[in-house]
Amino acid sequence: MMVEALLPPLLLLLASFTGVCPWRTRQTYVRAGEMVVLYCSHDRHGDAKVIWTSSSSQERDLADMSSAEQTQLGLLVRGRSLVILNASVNNQGNYSCSPGSRLWFSLIVCTPQSRECEERTQYPHICYRQEACTLNCPEVNIPAVSITNITSNGIIWNKPKDGYFSSVEENDHGVYTCTRSYLYRRQEYHMTFTVVLQVKPKEKKKVPVITSPRNRDVFEVDLGATLVVDCKAVMYADLDDVLWFHGKSEVETNNSFPVFYNYTREVKGAEIKMTASLVFKKVSEEDLSKSYTCRLDAVSGSSSFVTITLAQKAHPSYVSLALAVVGVMVVMVLAVVIYVRFKMNITLFLRDTLGCHSSISDGKSYDAFVMCYKSDTDAGLNEDDRKCLESALEERFGYTLCLYDRDVSPGKAAAEAVLDCIEQSRAVVLVPTSPDPGPGSGLLSAIHAALVERQTRLIFIQTETTEATRSGSLPEALQLLGEAGDCVTWKGMSSMPHSSSFWKQLRYHLPAPREASNIKRETFTCSNLGCYLMPE
Ligand SMILES: *[C@@H]1O[C@H](CO)[C@@H](O)[C@H](O)[C@H]1NC(C)=O
Ligand SMILES: *[C@@H]1O[C@H](CO)[C@@H](O)[C@H](O)[C@H]1NC(C)=O
Ligand SMILES: *[C@@H]1O[C@H](CO)[C@@H](O)[C@H](O)[C@H]1NC(C)=O
Repeated sequence: MMVEALLPPLLLLLASFTGVCPWRTRQTYVRAGEMVVLYCSHDRHGDAKVIWTSSSSQERDLADMSSAEQTQLGLLVRGRSLVILNASVNNQGNYSCSPGSRLWFSLIVCTPQSRECEERTQYPHICYRQEACTLNCPEVNIPAVSITNITSNGIIWNKPKDGYFSSVEENDHGVYTCTRSYLYRRQEYHMTFTVVLQVKPKEKKKVPVITSPRNRDVFEVDLGATLVVDCKAVMYADLDDVLWFHGKSEVETNNSFPVFYNYTREVKGAEIKMTASLVFKKVSEEDLSKSYTCRLDAVSGSSSFVTITLAQKAHPSYVSLALAVVGVMVVMVLAVVIYVRFKMNITLFLRDTLGCHSSISDGKSYDAFVMCYKSDTDAGLNEDDRKCLESALEERFGYTLCLYDRDVSPGKAAAEAVLDCIEQSRAVVLVPTSPDPGPGSGLLSAIHAALVERQTRLIFIQTETTEATRSGSLPEALQLLGEAGDCVTWKGMSSMPHSSSFWKQLRYHLPAPREASNIKRETFTCSNLGCYLMPE
């Protein structure tokens, strides 16, 4: 602050001592032998007489000199202009003009060898590739048109003619010379300038453009809803504009209309970003049938536009959704029904074909303990049927059985032996027999307790008659066992074939046989006459 405030008075002080304002000295270069004009551009003092002085003429008013003296010095004073027609080293020096604070000119006359002069008198010019290019001969220190007797006699370029290129190329880059000629008293005087042409790659033309929406965009909307469609554009001229139309007519900009548009403009450097917002207060059926056009009017000439339409929002069909859900549910129910209905077949099929055998080692020696109980009716299995059942289980289906009359050591007490057997088996099969060969029904209660305690699987084979009269007629112990286990009904003759449902059920309820190698691929055929071994 301090320095800035002090500087102007200091400089004025300096000027009043030396008579020279250092910041007002203008250096002017002229080639020896050429013309130069110094112009006193004081604008404050109106028509006051301009006094030119030269440092080489003892501060005399040059205008007061006779024209002979002026001619001798090679000078010509014409109002505000000081003309030097044919500059020589003698003209070099300081010139000033007044009124007011003096303007100083430092005239430097260049010899053709002077490098500095060459540089100081070059003027740059830029043109773009493959575009027309006109060089301008500089108008520096040239005589004002108002000076009488000095007339311009044209400009000559060393090349090209008139300094004009119809299409400039990179190799046109270089230094060009123009010479201005003036006539004074039938004598020709010259001023030479050099212009340095620089050829640059073509400048990309900036084209105004609509950035969104895109042409033919469809806006989905619910009837009665409010919709705003923003048309965004980037432009480069103040007069460029963005408008909304439907058909040939412009959309209203008055916001009391149901459809109108408003806009914002944002200037960022050379860019103008404009957003014209088309507002539908409540979208109507009629709006859906129309198309709207956003138009960019550019002063550069190229207008562009995008057209949009509205469409009613499509809601997902609930019918097809419901159908799909019902379909999935039907498939699930079917799958469950099929599984329940064919659970047994599926399980047995897997066991038979894929060899799904129980491989868990639970320390038990038998797959099942087959035990008889006394059937009240004579529908129970007779001796042969029972034997057939046992051998089919062992031979045909590969089960390892514990049989009371075969595997129980005779020495033991019956009850103890039976419990031992149950302990060693993974399942218990209770078979009704007519002549009771078993250990007697007295054991049944003990068996029930043992089964519950050990959680051993129980398959309770019953006859059709037992099934019918189950409640009531059976001893209580048997009833308990029937309820605790899986029941399989023996239907006499029809149950004998190995493909019968009796066998399927029995096998299904039994655990898978442990040792697959025990399966013998032979077929027993049983009848009430006994069992036969049929090679397959
Ligand atoms: C012209 O003025 C400058 C200061 O601005 C000075 O250095 C120079 O010597 C002067 N030249 C002549 C020829 O008086
Ligand atoms: C907009 O339109 C309404 C109704 O047509 C009119 O009363 C109002 O003057 C208009 N406003 C302008 C700013 O034109
Ligand atoms: C344009 O009109 C809408 C609806 O009336 C309004 O929400 C929004 O602010 C307006 N925008 C401008 C820039 O005025």
